[in-house]
Amino acid sequence: ENSKESTIILFGATGDLAVRKLYPALYQLYKKQNDVERFAVIGLGRRKYDHDTYRNMVKNSVKTDDASIDDFLSRFFFYSLDVDNIEGYVGLGALADKVDTDFNLSGNRIFYLALAPNFFGTVTNNLKDSGLTNTKGWKRLVIEKPFGHNLSSAKVLNEQIRSAFAEEEIYRIDHYLGKEMVQNIQVIRFANPLFESIWNNRYISNIQITSSETLGVGERAGYYDRSGALMDMVQNHMLQMVALTAMEPPSRLETEDIRDEKVKVLRSIRPVTSESVKDDIIRAQYTSGVLADGQTVRSYLDEENIDSQSQTETFVGAKLYIDNFRWAGVPFYIRTGKRMGVKSTQIVIQFKDAPLNPYLDQQPNLLVIHVQPDEGLSLKLNAKKIGESQETMPIHLDFCHNCTNDLGTSDAYERLIHDCIRGDSTNFTRWDEVALSWTYVDSIAQAWKDGYGPLEYYESGTMGPKSVDDLLAKNGFHWWPITNVEHN
Ligand code: BG6
Repeated sequence: ENSKESTIILFGATGDLAVRKLYPALYQLYKKQNDVERFAVIGLGRRKYDHDTYRNMVKNSVKTDDASIDDFLSRFFFYSLDVDNIEGYVGLGALADKVDTDFNLSGNRIFYLALAPNFFGTVTNNLKDSGLTNTKGWKRLVIEKPFGHNLSSAKVLNEQIRSAFAEEEIYRIDHYLGKEMVQNIQVIRFANPLFESIWNNRYISNIQITSSETLGVGERAGYYDRSGALMDMVQNHMLQMVALTAMEPPSRLETEDIRDEKVKVLRSIRPVTSESVKDDIIRAQYTSGVLADGQTVRSYLDEENIDSQSQTETFVGAKLYIDNFRWAGVPFYIRTGKRMGVKSTQIVIQFKDAPLNPYLDQQPNLLVIHVQPDEGLSLKLNAKKIGESQETMPIHLDFCHNCTNDLGTSDAYERLIHDCIRGDSTNFTRWDEVALSWTYVDSIAQAWKDGYGPLEYYESGTMGPKSVDDLLAKNGFHWWPITNVEHN
């Protein structure tokens, strides 16, 4: 069961995700050969590529002159498939068997669905009915988001894939879980008693999680306009970061123990009401503006293929509470959006002030987990100003993984594919996490539909509408500016 050879059967092999992320990640894994014994890829698409055309496409995606590329490419095969047509799967099975044998891959198969979710049901059904899921070795299913567009559609999707794969065989990608510093959250917390002993409502005043982008909707209008920031970012990445920041220490570092702890957090998020959505959740859309690099950009409504009446939010700011012993009373603020002032993901833990403050200019202690672009940590403390007695100044203890080139970390997709080949699903989302996230998001979407919380607007290149600052000001807080790890 644990052998690490596999044939990867990749649906959507000529698509954007495969070209941008999957081939480069596979190539990195191949070069490192770290734990991945052997693999081959059967790329599927509607096009009538031959193997060489496909290999060329993969080569262009990998972008390397290294001599090892030829052996790498020799593991790629193309098979033209209309996913609706079950007959085609029979030929696919025959090719997969041949590749298994030629490369000695133990009959293990990864079915990677880099496809729109409306195909998931058909594909998994046809895989089952054509016998492809009766593998000689293990089988795994990898699927990309969006996993439905609300709880009920997610349930339908889940039932479809569960009819062919067991929950343990399903790897639902949330690529944030593949990021170095997102994986580091639990280590920073649980390997440092210094932090863990004060990681609660007695010492933490609030937590701020930002994931901002400078890009606009780009070429994904069709998908994005139906989804919006709430479903695109909050339902998955943002809530996963909340869960990892807030969860209890798992008793063991086993997949299900960690997931169980995340589920408890998601279950403890205070349910929203129409009134709380109006007060605590902000939705906004970008207007035209100027980005930090001087580029003038158009408004969301002027983007290609966006309906000029669209009410889709490209930004969400929210305050949420986790109603358990550890977190009672501590606001978690999240914000995410497109066309904001900077591209950055960071988690700021703000500690409470000292019970008695003898220094006038004392600043709160902050622990900042820098997820991207810098990958590191900084701890903001107070120290004495040099020379002048009694005055304080802020100092930063900084650590950065990727600020120097020699510590380059791998890409999220490289890690996640690696995990899948090794059979470790810890950094993939389990069904109950997905379901609970949808429950939270659905009730916000419903309140919006019912007219609570109007759509606001923010200028491109800013950090969102003013109301998202007011959201914190109401509790006496403010957003800490986005920083790089190195302050000095
Ligand atoms: C994706 C969203 O899941 O995450 C995109 O669909 C978004 O809209 C992207 O741009 C952000 O990912 P990252 O890794 O660039 O922060």
